[in-house]
Amino acid sequence: MDERIVSSEEHEEDMGVELSLRPTTLSQYIGQHKAKENLAIFIEAAKMRGEALDHVLLYGPPGLGKTTLAAIIANEMDVNFRSTSGPAIERAGDLAAILSSLEPGDVLFIDEVHRLPRVVEEVLYPAMEDFFLDIVIGSGPSARSVKIDLPPFTLVGATTRAGLLSAPLRDRFGVLSRLEFYNPEELCDIIERTALIFNTSITNEAANEISRRARGTPRIANRLLKRVRDIAQVRGEVKISLGTTMEALDMLQVDDVGLDHIDHKLMIEIMNNFKGGPVGLDTIAATIGEESQTIEDVYEPYLLQIGFLQRTSRGRVATAKAYEHFGLAMDKS
Ligand code: ADE
Repeated sequence: MDERIVSSEEHEEDMGVELSLRPTTLSQYIGQHKAKENLAIFIEAAKMRGEALDHVLLYGPPGLGKTTLAAIIANEMDVNFRSTSGPAIERAGDLAAILSSLEPGDVLFIDEVHRLPRVVEEVLYPAMEDFFLDIVIGSGPSARSVKIDLPPFTLVGATTRAGLLSAPLRDRFGVLSRLEFYNPEELCDIIERTALIFNTSITNEAANEISRRARGTPRIANRLLKRVRDIAQVRGEVKISLGTTMEALDMLQVDDVGLDHIDHKLMIEIMNNFKGGPVGLDTIAATIGEESQTIEDVYEPYLLQIGFLQRTSRGRVATAKAYEHFGLAMDKS
């Protein structure tokens, strides 16, 4: 798959830069007021009691700052931050090794926690609930089960959708926090903060333009800013202007609401070949050559958010707003 500038998934080029852009305290973190407000209280209470924070599940579309928030939790709790992901832990022993190396109160962050193998999940249950490992050593008649005590720790899990998690795992999180798309004002603040870190300056109108086209997603806003900055720099522009920004975004083929060619393909397919729907997710996926899961987790949430797409029990439906945006006539039959 070609890399989309507006994909909310992490690109190789984001890695180092994203780390330096990440806020390190709750007070630096822009947006997500509900999540922040709750976490601030739970963190303060846990610190007053001298206990580990309850396990936290962060869920929501990619690029909204789940990893950043997990690292902030560790920083605010004054503990170590250990980070891994569901698919990276293949065997029960891998998880046992990580858990037994934790120090009291540490935050263990598991990204894509819905992708933990079943056998690993089962090791996690008693670890989360009562802080012990129950592992089987050896096999056959000589196999025996041993219990190993663990230090109290905080599991911070991240997933694109809470519904992807098994019920027993979901039930073991004390704090469930859904991250929302950012509004344009919040994105504008993030862009201005990033520009400052980049040592560049940007006009307010230009920052607004990027924020309008960033699909409610900081990761995309920062990536667009980087490309716009490149073009401004080559042109010798000292302060990034609206004109350069508009041209750059058009060059990147990001339309005026932040949609790119894949979103266009998806919407136009539904409107032209399925009369606007309803059409099943798997059918759309097959026609545009993307995975159903990717459409559901990555492309669709923003199209739903801006009201271009609706989910019904019979499938996806393109709305009048979408027809208007793409300049197509709606088939009333
Ligand atoms: N950079 C990326 N996401 C951010 C956020 N939510 N607040 C501040 N800076 C950010």
